[in-house]
Amino acid sequence: MQTKKIFLPESELPRQWYNVAADMPTPMEPPLHPGTGQPVGPEDLGPIFPMPLIEQEVSQERFIDIPEEVLEKYLIWRPTPLYRAYGLEKFLDTPAKIYFKNEGVSPAGSHKPNTAIAQAYYNKISGTKRILTETGAGQWGSALSYCTALFGLECKVYMVKVSYQQKPYRRMMMETWGGTCVASPSTETEAGRKILAQNPDSPGSLGIAISEAVEVAVQDDEAKYSLGSVLNHVMLHQTVNGLECQKQMAVTGDYPDVIIGCAGGGSNFAGLCFPYVRDKVNGKDIDIIGVEPTACPTMTRGPFAYDFGDNNQMTPLLPMHTLGHTFVPEGIHAGGLRYHGMAPLISQLILDNIIRPVAVPQLETFEAGITFARTEGFISAPETTHAVAEVIRQAKQAKEEGKEKVILFNWSGHGLVDMAAYDAYLSGKLADHELAQEEIQRALNDIEPLPKPKQYTG
Ligand SMILES: Cc1ncc(COP(=O)(O)O)c(C=O)c1O
Repeated sequence: MQTKKIFLPESELPRQWYNVAADMPTPMEPPLHPGTGQPVGPEDLGPIFPMPLIEQEVSQERFIDIPEEVLEKYLIWRPTPLYRAYGLEKFLDTPAKIYFKNEGVSPAGSHKPNTAIAQAYYNKISGTKRILTETGAGQWGSALSYCTALFGLECKVYMVKVSYQQKPYRRMMMETWGGTCVASPSTETEAGRKILAQNPDSPGSLGIAISEAVEVAVQDDEAKYSLGSVLNHVMLHQTVNGLECQKQMAVTGDYPDVIIGCAGGGSNFAGLCFPYVRDKVNGKDIDIIGVEPTACPTMTRGPFAYDFGDNNQMTPLLPMHTLGHTFVPEGIHAGGLRYHGMAPLISQLILDNIIRPVAVPQLETFEAGITFARTEGFISAPETTHAVAEVIRQAKQAKEEGKEKVILFNWSGHGLVDMAAYDAYLSGKLADHELAQEEIQRALNDIEPLPKPKQYTG
């Protein structure tokens, strides 16, 4: 009988996270203070994040110990299984071997708790009482609600309005774990009121929801803000997955030629691929592909520039691929991929030709999600279907070229509370939207006056 999945024993759970900053071919440019334009110091970030996370944000240490309390909680669902997708391979009649890491087995249903646990823990030991955050599709908000509950913290989530309406079960999950969830833009904050005054029907965006959460966090001494993607410490925590995966791939005797992940802010993709980025920097030949929606083409059409992480210009300026902080994407169902920026670490690795971005239209991603469900059984989150779509493209190419490629991808989450999206697809209600260059240009004009990084590509 063929081996379908590779489990790691709990004793093999990685004890350290991997910090790719130690192996970057080009040093990162610093985040800048939104007011002064000077590099931010730890004291500038103090009102927003607890100090252990700020230290991780700037760390150059290659490996960082995972605290015992975090390891103990990881064991609730980690190590996650690595699967061989025989069903999909057979359907595509491809010589490629397809492997996927199943991050959908966490209680929240995605990779997001890998960092939510760590962030809740460091906030707890730093004396934080409540955490404010944003969420797109609701995966991050539900993960943080779950993990704050484990450490006895309060959690309030600003959820992008279009997703709040599309995905009520995610709000219910947050409330079940004890979190509070508000549709963004809301009337609770200056940032929300400003947007509503301009456009009462605003569908919201992650950039707007971040502004709301940061605004409330900085006004409350007992509160901190938490981000579910983009920042270095989030990428760091996610590497527990890639490190596990390297041990599991060693059991199969295969080594990936192609690694694929969907990318919203970049965290699940980074988590799987960064340990392999280290191998690539040291000479391995791997095609590492980040997949984004054509409706929000941050990596493929956005310049590398300094930009704010939020709509209201409250966060530090980050050097990253960006569509501009005022960009509001179409209300596509992959809410977690509707972010204007990309993790600075991933952006820099794109400039260094270590990572290659591609964009896929919405209909192709749902078609891929249906194919995956009918061949492997699992129903993918709409974000995850972007990775699946690229896997299918790669497997078909392997067939055309007659190559036995090894393809590894991150199955970042299940779509069991996203069925309205599948329903819309199956009943022919979804469409692909051409994103006009003028719409991108309009948002990019807003970042024109900002400082420029050395490798600016605008
Ligand atoms: C299942 C799933 N995959 C991917 C993403 C995209 O985020 P990131 O790029 O940080 O992994 C999200 C975000 O909400 C998600 O819920």
